[in-house]
Amino acid sequence: CGIVAYVGPKDAAPILLEGLQRLEYRGYDSAGLVVSNKGLKMRKVKGRVADLAAVVPARFKGGLGIGHTRWATHGAPSDVNAHPHLSGDERVAVVHNGIIENADELRVKLEADGAVFVSETDTEVLSHLIARTVKETDSLVEAVRVALKRVVGTYGIAVVDAERPGEVVVARNGSPIVLGIGEKEMFAASDVAALVRYTRQVVHLEDGEIAVLKADGFNTFASDARETAKEPLTVDWEAGHYDTGGYEHYLLKEISEQPETVARTLRGRLDDRFHIAHLGGLNMDARETRSFRRVKIIGCGSAYYSGQIGAQLIEELARIPADAEPASEFRYRSPVVEADTLYVAISQSGETYDTLAAVQELKRKGGRVLGIVNTVGSAIARECDGGVYLHAGPEVSVASTKAFTSTAVAFALLALHLGRVRDLSPADGRRICEGLRRLPDQIKEILALEPRIEELARKYAEAPSMMFVGRVRGYPVAREGAQKLKEISYVHAEAYPASELKHGPLALIGPEMPTVAIVPDDELLDKNLTTLGEIRARGGRVLMVGHRVADPKLADDCVVVPRNETELDPILLTIPLQLFAYHAAVALDRDVDKPRNLAKSVTVE
Ligand code: G6P
Repeated sequence: CGIVAYVGPKDAAPILLEGLQRLEYRGYDSAGLVVSNKGLKMRKVKGRVADLAAVVPARFKGGLGIGHTRWATHGAPSDVNAHPHLSGDERVAVVHNGIIENADELRVKLEADGAVFVSETDTEVLSHLIARTVKETDSLVEAVRVALKRVVGTYGIAVVDAERPGEVVVARNGSPIVLGIGEKEMFAASDVAALVRYTRQVVHLEDGEIAVLKADGFNTFASDARETAKEPLTVDWEAGHYDTGGYEHYLLKEISEQPETVARTLRGRLDDRFHIAHLGGLNMDARETRSFRRVKIIGCGSAYYSGQIGAQLIEELARIPADAEPASEFRYRSPVVEADTLYVAISQSGETYDTLAAVQELKRKGGRVLGIVNTVGSAIARECDGGVYLHAGPEVSVASTKAFTSTAVAFALLALHLGRVRDLSPADGRRICEGLRRLPDQIKEILALEPRIEELARKYAEAPSMMFVGRVRGYPVAREGAQKLKEISYVHAEAYPASELKHGPLALIGPEMPTVAIVPDDELLDKNLTTLGEIRARGGRVLMVGHRVADPKLADDCVVVPRNETELDPILLTIPLQLFAYHAAVALDRDVDKPRNLAKSVTVE
């Protein structure tokens, strides 16, 4: 979900609508706003930000307001469940990201006390609670603090009080809030995307912090009411990064940007003299770097699949046992945390709640955690002991592409770094450095295959279901390929290790279920070709993605990608699958950048 707040000399409504538009990728089933001008004026609708803009009247003047775009958790998407939520007396309005776990209990108490609820949301308890306390205290920030003490759960909130037309109060616990500092105006949002058009000076709130914003500045407080000191940070993402840049969709723009984004991930990090990687942000000396006996990688969704590529790279190049696991599972299973294990958390947004909670759990137990994160200053980046920033620029489309690729590249750098202080030879170090440098141009070559991949996507998108297979290095590639296809085209796709096909899923194969097979020219080529033979023998159609033109007996179609070093090939093999999913989704007329039921950053449990 997305939050925007404004206080200053301009009219708030257009600023809120613009900000919400920028946040729409975070959630988009309903949207709403409140402006304060002799009382609170509210509009909210089920639908997109454009639908909201259509119903906000020009007479909504006033330099104070809050807005929200929602991804439903409690209560179905509807006008009434959309945020903001007002207190019964319409004095207090609240927008909220997160989940209030004791909402039912609080609601019963508030109702017994005379409150009348109009929505099914957990958020409405906040507006009633705050409205009650604001009458007893002379300060909105104090009322919010007291009300939040009764709340169990996660939140990022923005609150206005009709009787205080010059201030907005925001608070964070588990769901991001960032303040934007302007010239005699202040902003707040759940994501810098909503702010960069107006200011680059931002302040991230920590969990438990509350801030009061006025046109001429802000103050922040810890949950015990003590004032906290904050250093503003300058963000280098620009408003232009959030435009489609002439492309029809953000997704295609982000796929096409990959030669540059990969180059940015690599920039300044390869050393041609010693054939090592410079990763200044790790905050680890050579002794510590040598001390790890295991690497455990955690992340969610595509971040997890890129972590599987990372685990493979670390095992191969650094010869340290490594594996990846969904952060959402890891945090719930009481993992054994060891001092000689290096933990690596991956997140594009740096805000995914399950990943953040897993990092916090690791830290609590003394684990050493690095972050591979795209968003500078995000919660996960701040929580980790050190890490590698991707520098891939903002990723807007819900389906991850350039962040996935840059994460895999960052893992190659980390693996090189860990390997070269162990037993990776200078010759192999050099081979990997040179391979990494070739990636941007090779990605360009793959992007040039787009017309052919589009043709194939149209052909295969008619299938109700698809299988993606790969072996060892190819398996995470297959998983990410299947993930891309299902999330944006809604075609059912299943990924399997090619080696496991004969142990069950081969039963599914037939003319109705084509297979995308990842077949690099590695030591497993023959095994993979045997698998293709098995699929064809069952009448299955095969689209082979690899390094050679396929034997027509083994595959119906093929996409040939340039070859790099064997260890790095998975990075390149993923790119055609992104284009395949994109064009399948376009062919099926899907909402490519905003697939149904999904959100870019899942900041709730
Ligand atoms: C959501 C998105 C996925 C993404 C995952 C992890 O589920 O829809 O595309 O891979 O979150 O996001 P993160 O920002 O932590 O990489």
